[in-house]
Amino acid sequence: MQDQLNKILKEAKAQLEEARTHAQTDEIRVRFLGKKGELTAILRGMGKLSPEERRTTGQMANQVRAQIEEMLAEKFEAVKAAAKEAQFRKEKIDVTEPGRLEGLGVRHPITITMNEISRVFQNMGYSIVEGPEVETVFNNFDALNAGPDHPARDMTDTFYITEDVLLRTQTSPVQVRTLLSQKPPIKVISPGRVFRCDTPDATHSPMFHQVEGLLVDEGVTMADLKGTLDSFAKQLFGTSTRTKFRPHHFPFTEPSAEMDVSCFKCGGKGCRVCKGSGWIEILGCGMVHPNVLKVGGLDTEKYTGFAFGLGVERVAMLKYGVDDIRLFYENDMRFINQFK
Ligand code: DAH
Repeated sequence: MQDQLNKILKEAKAQLEEARTHAQTDEIRVRFLGKKGELTAILRGMGKLSPEERRTTGQMANQVRAQIEEMLAEKFEAVKAAAKEAQFRKEKIDVTEPGRLEGLGVRHPITITMNEISRVFQNMGYSIVEGPEVETVFNNFDALNAGPDHPARDMTDTFYITEDVLLRTQTSPVQVRTLLSQKPPIKVISPGRVFRCDTPDATHSPMFHQVEGLLVDEGVTMADLKGTLDSFAKQLFGTSTRTKFRPHHFPFTEPSAEMDVSCFKCGGKGCRVCKGSGWIEILGCGMVHPNVLKVGGLDTEKYTGFAFGLGVERVAMLKYGVDDIRLFYENDMRFINQFK
């Protein structure tokens, strides 16, 4: 029986040396010390022994059990440490590895153009004011001297929300808001979105962008208007740009004009961009109508002013040679990324 015990001890030792995992170690524990284990079987068989043998064998069996328990404990520790080590190795991160570069976004061509236009006027001392896209009929039409019979008020041109509220068709209502909230000298521009009931095609979109301008002070004349807008054109399209003003009509200005710039592509000789004329229409402008100044409670004998409005998409299309306005709204990255 003592031989058997020695054999068990040796075997347990040998098997434990082979064990690599917690599960394998635990199997060995069950095999030797479990209820149906080899050592337990021996202890059970001791009843048949003489009292003397039982004492010595019992002692030895207990020693063997203690030794196996000790070896098991050591092994459990060892496999635990090994498992931890393996996990550390697996989870190790290289903090010196360079990061993955995410692609940088680019500004939208409309934003770029609007910022360029705004910067020119900001450099001339204009401040930026903003107005809401949902506007009153009063601010969008009545206060701008466009009475109830004005054609632009038609349902087919304007998105009405209620009888008195609409999506602004122009940035000009910001003139009204400014006249109601500021005293002269007034010198503001207002970039923003406008809306019209238009079916989209290469040159029309139901939503587009404008930049509005308003200057009001004592003694402002048409010469100030021309000088300001001529300087703007030279800064935006190049110093050799020439301008000309053609008579036009807007309800909120008198007199009114449209400004053309000499074609920045051909210099005025005539090409595809200017459709052979050498000139490109860029904006609407005029001297603020006295009826509009009166909305702000101004003395029209003392104060005069000029205003202008231009379409951002139109400028962007001309500058970048884009021939379909819809390209601006599709947000195809292959298109947008060209404006880096
Ligand atoms: N609001 C006009 C439009 O949408 C543009 C415009 C013309 C604005 C003349 C002005 C102006 O301030 O003076 O067509």
